[in-house]
Amino acid sequence: MTKPLKRHKALQPLSREHHQGLLLCWKIREGLKKGVEHERIKSYTDFFFSSQLRPHFNFEEKEIFPLLGNEHPLTLRALKEHHRLESLFQGEASEENFSSIEKELNRHIRFEERELFSELQETTSEEKLQQISHKEEEVITPNPDDWDDKFWLRN
Ligand SMILES: [Fe+2]
Ligand SMILES: [Fe+2]
Repeated sequence: MTKPLKRHKALQPLSREHHQGLLLCWKIREGLKKGVEHERIKSYTDFFFSSQLRPHFNFEEKEIFPLLGNEHPLTLRALKEHHRLESLFQGEASEENFSSIEKELNRHIRFEERELFSELQETTSEEKLQQISHKEEEVITPNPDDWDDKFWLRN
């Protein structure tokens, strides 16, 4: 049995943000299942994108992907998915659009966790990984649960 690679400490804050992203996907699915008005879901996905995902994408693009290389196939795929996700989040408040966000964000996060981060921590020096931990501490985002309309919990 192969042991899963332990996530390097420097990448753990990003992995925690990924966990919040997977929770967003779950919240969208719950909202759709409960028939919540699309505008309420949209308000939350707007808040989540601007307060959580935009800073997360910026950090990855500025500090993480360059460690792999700007022309690395995994970097190119991740950048393409960031652009695609950004346009989905700016899209209309429709069931179809929410489903695409939910599916594609899920897939993007799993790709980064399983492929990109694993490759990164195998190929990046300890010293460089240490440098990102210090930069990561400077990025402070509001709590994604700091939102009154928790449509995912009730009808
Ligand atoms: Fe990403
Ligand atoms: Fe990410």
